Amino acid sequence: MLKANVQEALNKQLNQEIESSYIYLSMAAWLEGKNFRGMARWMRVQAMEEWKHAMKFFDYVIERGGKVQLFDIAAPKSEWANVQDIFADSHKHEMKITGLIYGLAKLVDGEADYATQVFLQWFVTEQVEEEASVEQVVAKLKLVGDGHVGLLFMDAELGKRAG
Ligand SMILES: [Fe+2]
Ligand SMILES: [Fe+2]
Repeated sequence: MLKANVQEALNKQLNQEIESSYIYLSMAAWLEGKNFRGMARWMRVQAMEEWKHAMKFFDYVIERGGKVQLFDIAAPKSEWANVQDIFADSHKHEMKITGLIYGLAKLVDGEADYATQVFLQWFVTEQVEEEASVEQVVAKLKLVGDGHVGLLFMDAELGKRAG
């Protein structure tokens, strides 16, 4: 059985992951509108991954005999200055999520909930990967600047993302 405060924190993170999915979907929509179809694909795949993260929390709460609770989700931002701006936002968002996962890990540690500690380990590792992959994109886009050929190359590259 989950402790009430752990259950609440897990449900909050479930919602955060859904919100992440929503944010990335909004980013995909903006990129589609600018005809960056490859970058939009990258964001669509990201949105689907975040949904899968949400479902991991969903399934875990159920498995522990807990109660899933869903909260309101704020409307995401829908306008960006350029592709550098959008990927910088995505990086900032991942760093925020890492902080939330660490906060959750700390809470669970204090509660000596070892099963949830093990469950959260996957997310700790995942965040390292997520931050690294978006940092790569941010760095490359910085080099490209507003060079059209570079932007088209990046669009083609990011469109190769599997998912
Ligand atoms: Fe996530
Ligand atoms: Fe993420």
